[in-house]
Amino acid sequence: MNTLERAEAADHALIEELDRLVIVKSAIYTSGERDPREPLPRQDDKGKLYLMGHDPRLAPMPARPTLFDFFRYRFGPAAHVLQSARLARKNGVDEKIVLACLLHDIATSGFIRADHGYWSAQLVEPYVDPEVVFAIRYHQVLRFYPDESVGYRYPDSYVRLFGPDFRPEPYLDRAHERARAHKWYMSARLVTVNDLYAFDPTVQVELEEFTDVVGRHFRQPEEGLGFDDSPSAHMWRTIMWPTRYL
Ligand SMILES: [Fe+2]
Ligand SMILES: [Fe+2]
Repeated sequence: MNTLERAEAADHALIEELDRLVIVKSAIYTSGERDPREPLPRQDDKGKLYLMGHDPRLAPMPARPTLFDFFRYRFGPAAHVLQSARLARKNGVDEKIVLACLLHDIATSGFIRADHGYWSAQLVEPYVDPEVVFAIRYHQVLRFYPDESVGYRYPDSYVRLFGPDFRPEPYLDRAHERARAHKWYMSARLVTVNDLYAFDPTVQVELEEFTDVVGRHFRQPEEGLGFDDSPSAHMWRTIMWPTRYL
């Protein structure tokens, strides 16, 4: 078989596999586009099996996936977090905060956008120092509130994106006050300071630039993320297998 024939055979195998599977989307992925209270249109499932593992439309993942495997195979383009982490390092912040910058938006790029600071923090909580968790969780909150002492202004891009009348929800006001009074306030604030809005598309930063930081500050489970029975293992599995029926 030549290369073209092999590619065609692989395409054919994929189409065949998709033909014999029923693949559904979780309510959360479609809520808003459709009213989740309405029953779903029935898919033709005659002679088919419901998908209970790997989605053949996605890149396969190693049996024991690492953090970087998730970056490579499941997260969206990582230029924003990579450039933020590089900037943090250039600014000489503590390595733990460099790691926080690298991980701060993983929920946005691979899981759930709304309240992404909380989701990102929860994903990594079993594997990193509590200060890193705090910094990631609260960066989202602190983005809405200026701090002149470190030169952080309310982002112009937020005015553009959300309009001049946007006001954060009261729960964010409360979270902001809590964060301000916390001993790790500046750790979270430093993530917002190094959080690049306009990243440079011509600058290429490789994941490997942070192999050392991740090696020192991220406790990669031997069994692989998703299989270590940690409190967030199920979230990593959902990212790996987002369309499993159950
Ligand atoms: Fe963010
Ligand atoms: Fe960000």
